[in-house]
Amino acid sequence: MFEDKKIAVLGAGKLGEALISGLIDTKLVRENQFIATAAHNERLEQLKKKLGIQTTLSNSEAVRKSELVLLCVKPQTVGEVVRQISDDLTLDHLVISVAASVTTRFIEDLLFKAVPIIRVMPNTPCLIKAGMSAIAVGRHATAEHMKQAQKIFDAIGRTVVLDEKHMDAVTGLSASGPAFVYIIIESFVEAGVKVGLPRETATLLAAQMVLGASRMVLETGEHPAKLKDIVTTPAGCTIDGILELEDGGLRVTLIKAVVRATQRARELVNG
Ligand SMILES: NC(=O)c1ccc[n+]([C@@H]2O[C@H](COP(=O)([O-])OP(=O)(O)OC[C@H]3O[C@@H](n4cnc5c(N)ncnc54)[C@H](OP(=O)(O)O)[C@@H]3O)[C@@H](O)[C@H]2O)c1
Repeated sequence: MFEDKKIAVLGAGKLGEALISGLIDTKLVRENQFIATAAHNERLEQLKKKLGIQTTLSNSEAVRKSELVLLCVKPQTVGEVVRQISDDLTLDHLVISVAASVTTRFIEDLLFKAVPIIRVMPNTPCLIKAGMSAIAVGRHATAEHMKQAQKIFDAIGRTVVLDEKHMDAVTGLSASGPAFVYIIIESFVEAGVKVGLPRETATLLAAQMVLGASRMVLETGEHPAKLKDIVTTPAGCTIDGILELEDGGLRVTLIKAVVRATQRARELVNG
């Protein structure tokens, strides 16, 4: 499907780089199929050196040389970039926007032609093919366009197709979520150090434990509460730890973090 397609990555920052690296790693797309842009030459030099891809400061040039456009700039920059490339986009392009907060309607309204737009909310674990991406379809995108988007994001993790109204919630949960989980892992490591473990060992124990617990939820299909009950023996040590978590309000804090991030996702497009 992507054999000869050229892919423009407009705004190849942290997420753009994660997507390019992840896709090159899957061998679904080759280095020479990418053309990436950024605002500064230094960033382009970095990308060229690290990923061996073609780069340009011109979004228009990248779009003219490609069939698929991955729009990876910050939400508040999307309008400016879409206006820049509107003359270069044709009905044969597919635009996939990963910008938080920006609706397909917003992009469609800036264009005077029915260019197909798909909105995706991925996360940085796409870098290691463990991403989670939600995909929503714009007005002019067909089932075939959706298939292309799914193929890209399935290759670098899992995908779910959702109504666009849920995209801010996805942003607050699975796009911001890795940052929340890193803080949790970091805290487990500090805890391990506090109870006498070497930092490196504590990091391995904490990270592999989180990975294992996640896989248990995904692979057994059991409710997390049931899996928790299996660990929690009566009068054992886990229940004492759970008591501390409840006392510290961990659940409420995590729920509030996702709610707040979701609210912020609604505002980003306005700066
Ligand atoms: N980070 C995540 O985990 C994540 C997850 C899901 C979705 N997203 C979405 O992905 C997008 C990018 O986020 P990010 O974290 O990757 O941000 P980032 O690292 O700041 O990347 C943005 C990139 O855009 C470039 N840029 C700025 N103005 C430009 C322009 N006019 N034309 C072309 N490139 C331009 C910047 O270039 P310079 O480097 O040269 O300044 C930078 O490389 C956002 O819309 C965000 O909502 C991010």
